[in-house]
Amino acid sequence: MHVCIDLGTSNVRAGWMDHRGNAEGAFVDEPAVVAIPDAGPTVIGKEAEAMIGRHPDAIRLVRPVDGGVVRDFDAAVAVIRHVVRQLGADGIGRRLSVTLAVPSSQSQVDRKAMEEAARAAGAREVRFVESSIAAAIGARLPIDRPTGCLVVLMGGGLTEASLLSMGGIVDSRTVRSGGQAIDSEIVDLLRRQYSFLIGLPSAEQLKRAASQATPEAAFEVRGRNLETGLPGTLRVPRALVEQVIDAYTERIVQLIREAIEACPPELVGDILDHGVVLTGGGAHMDRVVSQLATQIEVPVTAADEPDTCVVRGLMHTRHPKARQGWKSNLTLNVPRMSLAPIRQLLRKSGTEE
Ligand SMILES: Nc1ncnc2c1ncn2[C@@H]1O[C@H](COP(=O)(O)OP(=O)(O)OP(=O)(O)O)[C@@H](O)[C@H]1O
Ligand SMILES: [Mg+2]
Repeated sequence: MHVCIDLGTSNVRAGWMDHRGNAEGAFVDEPAVVAIPDAGPTVIGKEAEAMIGRHPDAIRLVRPVDGGVVRDFDAAVAVIRHVVRQLGADGIGRRLSVTLAVPSSQSQVDRKAMEEAARAAGAREVRFVESSIAAAIGARLPIDRPTGCLVVLMGGGLTEASLLSMGGIVDSRTVRSGGQAIDSEIVDLLRRQYSFLIGLPSAEQLKRAASQATPEAAFEVRGRNLETGLPGTLRVPRALVEQVIDAYTERIVQLIREAIEACPPELVGDILDHGVVLTGGGAHMDRVVSQLATQIEVPVTAADEPDTCVVRGLMHTRHPKARQGWKSNLTLNVPRMSLAPIRQLLRKSGTEE
């Protein structure tokens, strides 16, 4: 049987198919966190994530993969074993085949480490599909046609802007930073400006709240006042968190610029038609979607269920029906905007006809 796994920096998502390629109902979506105690059994997933910032020294908390790089081999094996078991895809006599999503920027050495981890977890066959291709398929973009699409993958540890056409990657740009870096920057900012220390889970909550299109002007967060050493509550102005989110958006704008600069002019026209599609957990941030749209002046949409695009796309690549021609049903409901910035870019890179 085939198990498709998107083992990300923050989360692991997996689904499986029988030998005829029929998708089974089971699906796993869990934090990619492993808690390894000095003594006792290893804990994986939600239970391990709940320990972040609360665990004693006797427990080591590990994220096995960071931006496509295996940071802890044994933990990666444990997570893959765990999802296979959760799916009910293990069992005696079953030949396990695994398809893994990998960033296009991943080195051969890192890919080999991923493969070894899957084999150590029982896989007899290991295949790779680039995450951006899987994400585009999951977002139902027409990547099998000779028309360009620009998909941005916004993960926990990696942000990737890829230009795809005819089922392949024309250009892909990556920064090894994502949603988790936003969380860390929020922690640093509050420490510097307010001498107030919060944990990463609280910073993530602040990010989620401030990135939504709600009218709240400030958010409360609990932590420790570093001057008094006492616990307390801090009112954090929304603008402060937005500043960190906007710096991340700026990095995405840069990636998109670089991808467009390297792209043939015909494909640029296609991007203007299709717009830019955001996938990955970060695509839930309304503020990033709206800020990006204003800055690049091309329609920007977040895919439906953006965080499961990659694994759904992986499943599609393994499904027989996927190989018999698959139709896009993406409809962009965004007003067409000025093309000036893209034209300007093209002029700058000397690619406009
Ligand atoms: N509603 C939301 N608002 C803001 N950020 C969110 C939201 N939901 C998820 N995220 C962020 O998305 C990130 C996780 O995204 P995702 O699950 O796509 O990453 P991943 O696949 O594990 O990582 P990577 O692909 O980079 O290795 C986290 O940083 C999380 O905080
Ligand atoms: Mg991912």
